[in-house]
Amino acid sequence: MNELVQLTKDEGIAIITINNPPVNALSPGVPEGILEAIEHIDRDDSVKAAVLIGAGSTFIAGADIKEFIKITSGKARGTPLLPLLQRIEDCRKPVVMAIHGTAFGGGLEVAMAGHYRVAAPGALLGQPEVKLGIIPGAGGTQRLPRLAGVAKAVEMCAGGNPVKGNEAAQLGIIDRLIEGDLLAGAVAFAREVAHKAAPRTRERQNKLGTPVQNAPIFAAAREAAKARQRGLMAPLAAIDAVEAATRLPFHEGCEVERKLFTECLFSDQSKALIHIFFGEREVAKIPDVPKETPTLPVKTAAVVGAGTMGGGIAMVFANAGIPVLLKDTDQAALDRGLATIQKNYAASVRRGRLTQQFVDERLKLIKPTLGYDGFATVDMVVEAVFEGMALKQQVFRELDRICKPGAILASNTSTLNIDEIASATSRPETVIGTHFFSPANVMRLLEIVRGKATSKEVIATCMQLSKKLGKVGVLVGNCRGFVANRMFHPYMREAMFLVEEGTGVEAVDKALYDFGMAMGPLATGDLAGIDVGWRIRREYEHLEKPGIRQPIAADRLYEMGRYGQKTGGGWYKYDENRRAIPDPGITELISRWAAEADIPQRYISPEEIVERCIYSLVNEGARILEEGHALRAVDIDMIFINGFGFPAHRGGPMWYADTVGVKKVYERVCEFHRQHGELWEPAPLLRKLAAEGGTFAELRVEQGALA
Ligand code: 3HC
Ligand code: NAI
Repeated sequence: MNELVQLTKDEGIAIITINNPPVNALSPGVPEGILEAIEHIDRDDSVKAAVLIGAGSTFIAGADIKEFIKITSGKARGTPLLPLLQRIEDCRKPVVMAIHGTAFGGGLEVAMAGHYRVAAPGALLGQPEVKLGIIPGAGGTQRLPRLAGVAKAVEMCAGGNPVKGNEAAQLGIIDRLIEGDLLAGAVAFAREVAHKAAPRTRERQNKLGTPVQNAPIFAAAREAAKARQRGLMAPLAAIDAVEAATRLPFHEGCEVERKLFTECLFSDQSKALIHIFFGEREVAKIPDVPKETPTLPVKTAAVVGAGTMGGGIAMVFANAGIPVLLKDTDQAALDRGLATIQKNYAASVRRGRLTQQFVDERLKLIKPTLGYDGFATVDMVVEAVFEGMALKQQVFRELDRICKPGAILASNTSTLNIDEIASATSRPETVIGTHFFSPANVMRLLEIVRGKATSKEVIATCMQLSKKLGKVGVLVGNCRGFVANRMFHPYMREAMFLVEEGTGVEAVDKALYDFGMAMGPLATGDLAGIDVGWRIRREYEHLEKPGIRQPIAADRLYEMGRYGQKTGGGWYKYDENRRAIPDPGITELISRWAAEADIPQRYISPEEIVERCIYSLVNEGARILEEGHALRAVDIDMIFINGFGFPAHRGGPMWYADTVGVKKVYERVCEFHRQHGELWEPAPLLRKLAAEGGTFAELRVEQGALA
């Protein structure tokens, strides 16, 4: 047909093979090739039935997402798939869809337009479009309920999670599971059905239910979507579209779907989520560390320090099946660390996230120790002892003496200079920062800090390892606070200033929660510990310029012993379930402290709260970019989404700035600069982009560029 779609024959059975690596997306040429093949099959009397299969590791993984970017930016018009699918369904010969790998989005929609479907048991079938801020756009919301029933179709289209081949068979999406050779099994199946009627999915009605049966399904799904996918429009649109399938004839239902799909596709949410999809893959690409860079095997690991982070990091290795030694200096700390690990695992079993058997196997992989026994053979060590340069250097000196040549020596430091740590060893090329986020076994971000001497092999290995550990690894430069904490600092600072200027604690948190943050900044402060922030402020006090405004209330809370959740009170007070309760006493105290410090009080709108906090992130992000401590704006976006609960549907702080308009952001930053002084000095890059009408997304990376 064309180079993307091939047609061959096997004694009366036509075989259509989609060959569009890596994932057989429906890029231009693929739908056209399928159409031509179907026309040919209909005409060719020697063909009795057909099989459609994907070459390589997968069936069709969906529409080509890059095409969506072209469509919304006016560079392409896009060809609707619906007529093609109807043409497949109208083929006079039975068409059998043979599924392995993933049948996602448009891929599942193509599959459902076939007359029969067979699949490998491990295949995944899903409508993940909501994760891109869109809904199925080629009849998925209309055909899926006809095959799987309304409740499951709603769950799959609004939630976006796939089902495995065997579940799909139970649901009626798949007609037969095929163990072994999928193509041979599919061809045999096609022979069996060659002389039978070719059932059209669109004509099936028996699983569509009645309005009375369906009403509670839709109501519950809408409630769940509002709670779990807060602020997202696509899940609600997907539910509306499935509802249309139950109320309207197929073609009218498809029209409703098309309209909702287009609305979603052109929304800022979808553009942001598509940016995230590609961003997650782009951050793995390091200009001067090409794909072919050799990597070192990480088959065994060790963690030094069994505290909050060390315990979590040990779990991360164990969860990936990597045996890990967990070392501490005193037995009590080691016991505490292990008890926390067990408690965390038990909670996952209770919530049904992990099975007891999985947990038992993982626990066997974590080996507690007080000494360095076994360290001589491990491939990688992650140090997670107290934050302090002298201690870290001592640990690295010991590791240098004990570990085998080539072993990766990583530090989980959140602020310290990686080069200084590396200087304690005779092999700085193996030293790197691997900054996990708390809780390490949950948060997806892994900030990977490149030291001056870190070798490309070590970087490539850690980037690759992050994926194996289920993390999004982002490479950053070695500056104070690296990228994540460095940016979080002005964000928190503004939140605290706003409180001191008369905005209630809850008002600040609510404005940012409503913006989409997973938690308000002050609630986050209570969770992380007000003592932690206090300690960091003291450590870096000597670097602050005299006369620059500093937050005052947080230090006072610290002095009162209000460290946050762990002491039952901080910015909020906490009940026994650690639920935050507003504390009027604190509001009163803060206004007293503000009066003593002559801080003028005024009403500050939710919009201004968001601007102060988010634009402070953008301004710092711009500085980080111009200094070369992050490779691309998208790297910063990935850091904030995966490390700090920034709403993915806003694309990350830098993408959000592009959405608002860099010029507008710059003008607000200038205004804040006039009002609040030096801390708001606009970053030169922000000024430059505003003047040139540029965007952060379009900034190009210099070869090799991390400072
Ligand atoms: N369109 C364009 N490119 C795609 C793509 C797609 N649908 N799916 C994957 N790719 C690209 C990736 O960007 C990556 O490119 P790169 O090598 O240049 O970085 C390459 O294919 C390999 O992808 P992964 O690294 O993600 O490979 P994995 O093996 O880890 O995962 C996958 C494979 C599970 C298929 C995963 O890529 C995935 O989930 N893809 C998206 C699937 C999807 O969302 N489909 C629905 C699209 S929307 C749609 O179909 C609308 C319809 O209703 C009309
Ligand atoms: P923690 O205080 O909970 O644990 C530190 C552990 O190290 C203690 O169990 C202590 O006994 C042990 N230890 C001290 N000296 C040791 C030595 N010489 N050998 C072996 N064990 C030793 O500290 P936490 O919070 O886990 O922090 C560890 C590191 O991770 C620090 O560098 C911190 O900055 C960083 N970090 C902390 C985050 C957090 O949210 N707590 C987040 C990200 C990084």
